[in-house]
Amino acid sequence: MRKKIVAGNWKMNMNLQDGVALAKEINETLKADKPNCGVIICTPFIHLASVAQVLDQNVVALGAENCADKEKGAYTGEVSAEMVKSTGAQYVILGHSERRQYYHETAEILKDKVQLALKNGLKVIFCCGETLEEREANKQNEVVKAELDGSVFNLSAEEWKNIVLAYEPIWAIGTGKTATADQAEEMLAYIRSIVADKYGKEAADDTTILYGGSCKPGNAPELFAKPDIDGGLIGGASLKAADFKGIIDAWK
Ligand code: 13P
Repeated sequence: MRKKIVAGNWKMNMNLQDGVALAKEINETLKADKPNCGVIICTPFIHLASVAQVLDQNVVALGAENCADKEKGAYTGEVSAEMVKSTGAQYVILGHSERRQYYHETAEILKDKVQLALKNGLKVIFCCGETLEEREANKQNEVVKAELDGSVFNLSAEEWKNIVLAYEPIWAIGTGKTATADQAEEMLAYIRSIVADKYGKEAADDTTILYGGSCKPGNAPELFAKPDIDGGLIGGASLKAADFKGIIDAWK
């Protein structure tokens, strides 16, 4: 049985104090009312070490939102996978569309990041998804396949066990415009089929695939009811403990 997951992606929204307070609140809330799925919070680098101190990672696991494409050395301002791991984090988000769009992260760069993350014992939440223009041209399958081909389909079957996929259509991120549950299911089923082509049916059945993009307590139950949707990668609604909990409760 593959794992159901709800993961938060805080992005560039909170200072250290507010982030630690939110992590504490989420941790306490979920310890009092145990989730029916895996829960991860992915934070900016500056929060990691402090948030690790306040989380019971058996209940809420910790992840980063990025890591460097180089192992170590003179790369001013960068944070390596090994540095991320040393904070106590277990996951890292790679391939987010905001990193691809605004920071020009190519498939090649992401391939290097994925390798370094896995080598350092991090699990990877690898994101893919098309723009509105690409969807209107009916190119979404092609785009998503190219993103996976370019950065993760080179992995061995053993390495693949540490990959979680997240489909985030760019037109649904932070726009309030969610993909319909049917649109999301159609894409996740397609992604699972190409994972099966590459790694076999059993591995595909074991791969956790998340939906991300304007996921909220109100639409999570309908999305999560679909057979191929194994949970969500949550931006805006992960910044309030009550909203995040509301999404997690969609698994109850
Ligand atoms: P929103 O939930 O704010 O649309 O963001 C989704 C996202 O990008 C998560 O990685």
